[in-house]
Amino acid sequence: MRSYFIAGNWKMHKTVAESVALAKELKDKLGSCKEKVLVAPAFTALAAVAEVLKGSSIMLGAQNMGPEEQGAHTGEVSVLMLKDLGVKAVILGHSERRHSYLESDELVNKKVLLALKHGLEPILCVGETLEEREGGKLEAVVGTQVKKGLAGVSAADLAKVTIAYEPVWAIGTGKTATPEDADAVHAFIRKEVAGLYGDAAAKALCIQYGGSVKADNAALLMGKPNIDGALVGGASLKAETFVPIASFR
Ligand code: 13P
Repeated sequence: MRSYFIAGNWKMHKTVAESVALAKELKDKLGSCKEKVLVAPAFTALAAVAEVLKGSSIMLGAQNMGPEEQGAHTGEVSVLMLKDLGVKAVILGHSERRHSYLESDELVNKKVLLALKHGLEPILCVGETLEEREGGKLEAVVGTQVKKGLAGVSAADLAKVTIAYEPVWAIGTGKTATPEDADAVHAFIRKEVAGLYGDAAAKALCIQYGGSVKADNAALLMGKPNIDGALVGGASLKAETFVPIASFR
């Protein structure tokens, strides 16, 4: 049976104690969840959450990482440091990083390749702004983010990549793309990937939707053929809102 990939991006929220408390609750309540579940706490809470999640099927993720293995890069956190803590996946190219910290497709791609080199699963985020959508540039923007983000990724490594489609205008706004609109963009992403890696690889690719996913829209979104999971922000900050999403079926 198909399993969905439900990830919680805790963004810049929660102290270590708060992160541990939420991780404990999720571990208890999602023990028998049939989906692939991941939580991505802030860097400061990764070690403590890793400890809590030991023996659980919930995966530990990071929200970003530096583009170099090590060296004089003040303030960055490296792939080796993440692995050292038991991190298994890393969110890369989130729109908040692209827009607030000016991360380019080239930088995001460098991180994707580095994560794969060290066996971390990248979650490559793509998505258009409202202005781009209304200007008819959705496919150009998302297509470029997909192609540039995956540049140099081997066919074997593609199997470890998840793409998260997060329309920027739907993040934290309460506006969700309709399931039909989201599915159409997911189908477009799959078509682009098919052009690069072939139909079988594109079919197998996991494409998450992100942007105001809540318990009441999760089933409708994931009921669509091209939506393979969710990348959840606000609703991942409490067990009472995240658990129903991860248990949507
Ligand atoms: P919201 O679920 O708060 O809209 O955030 C989505 C997101 O950015 C997840 O990475």
